[in-house]
Amino acid sequence: MSKERRAKLLESIGDGIAIVPTAPHQRRNSDVLYPYRPDSDFYFLTHFPEPEAVAVLAPGADAGDYILFCRARDPAKEIWDGHRAGIEGAIEHYGADAAYPISDLDSVLPGLMANRERVYCTLGRYADFDARIVRWLNQTRRQIRTGINAPGEIIEISELIHEMRLFKQPDEIETIMHAARISAQAHRHAMQSCRPGMTEYQMQAEIEYCFAKHGCTTAYPSIVASGVNACILHYVDNSDELSDGDLLLIDAGAELDCYASDITRTFPVNGRFSACQRAVYEVVLEAQQRSIDTVRAGKRYDDVAQIAIDTIVDGLIDLGILKCGRHEALESGAYKTYYMHKIGHWLGMDVHDVGAYRNKSGGSRKLEPNMYMTIEPGIYLAPSDELDEKWHGIGIRIEDDVLVTENGARVSTSDVPKKIDEIEHLMAG
Ligand code: GLY
Ligand code: MN
Ligand code: MN
Repeated sequence: MSKERRAKLLESIGDGIAIVPTAPHQRRNSDVLYPYRPDSDFYFLTHFPEPEAVAVLAPGADAGDYILFCRARDPAKEIWDGHRAGIEGAIEHYGADAAYPISDLDSVLPGLMANRERVYCTLGRYADFDARIVRWLNQTRRQIRTGINAPGEIIEISELIHEMRLFKQPDEIETIMHAARISAQAHRHAMQSCRPGMTEYQMQAEIEYCFAKHGCTTAYPSIVASGVNACILHYVDNSDELSDGDLLLIDAGAELDCYASDITRTFPVNGRFSACQRAVYEVVLEAQQRSIDTVRAGKRYDDVAQIAIDTIVDGLIDLGILKCGRHEALESGAYKTYYMHKIGHWLGMDVHDVGAYRNKSGGSRKLEPNMYMTIEPGIYLAPSDELDEKWHGIGIRIEDDVLVTENGARVSTSDVPKKIDEIEHLMAG
């Protein structure tokens, strides 16, 4: 599929040249590196998994349209760090028309830029690489007296690639659904293994064990937040003990072949919701279900968001948590004390995936088939003087991954229960 993506991009760049580097390998500490994760745009175009690589799309170049710079084979290094595709592998297995050692980048690139109108690049993403592009451009300019033309424009390539990435192709949908199924299984397993007295990090281990067992990594650091910790939206300490009577919010998603899934479930540590927990949970669940029911091609992102806001505002007023009328709560934004984030985000290679949320005139974008998104409303009742004590520390989010179709949302994460009686039944089993 990456071949079709490159073909589409080649068409868009016309008489320009596109230069897309992969991500640098990040150092964790001392001489220890993080596990390698390629740049999403680079991987989308190449499926090439190694660090130290640059894809060049140069329509009509003598060497070919698609040139891949990568690490050359090196038996001595491969003993330590593993197999490299090398120059031959880049051509044979990854479809490059030509390949060069990454160490040749500085000598080859100025020549490839010659007589092209524009340079498309990932401006602003990797500062060192941006500086090299400017150097190559200057080298090309210095050749002008020999009859060469240098590109006159540098254009940020992201919008071109990101619009492609926003609309998922069948293989991408398949991979996200697979990751989502594994995540759902992990969340079921977490519900079944949870007991008062365990710790948040033990629950994290239960979840991530399921990811790892199926060949997945985490798409983002798992949030395992019990009690009041759930009111910290990106709580990742995961260090507390689980108390009988508290809720546990787990926001964790598996990543498979660089595609993310993203699920949140909130359930009682002891397997039974209290009356107050139940009352708030029902509001969040209704908001989530109504948002999901609103998703379909032609609806706007803001339509999906507004239905959740309306439902949460009504629910908070009914519960006596918001002490004003609906109109005032909406006008003043008073509800944002308890629901302060967006309804969801695009989902894909990045958990908060790329793609514009607004159309060119600034309005909320219409949903279209094959967009993938999350639907994740929540209510967070952090202790405060304004709030009756009975609500203190209740934090609830429910998050599913949905594919937009002509007729509605196709939910990929429904294998893990979210209705109260289904959760209690699973936890009692
Ligand atoms: N896990 C991050 C999010 O739900 O957006
Ligand atoms: Mn999310
Ligand atoms: Mn999430």
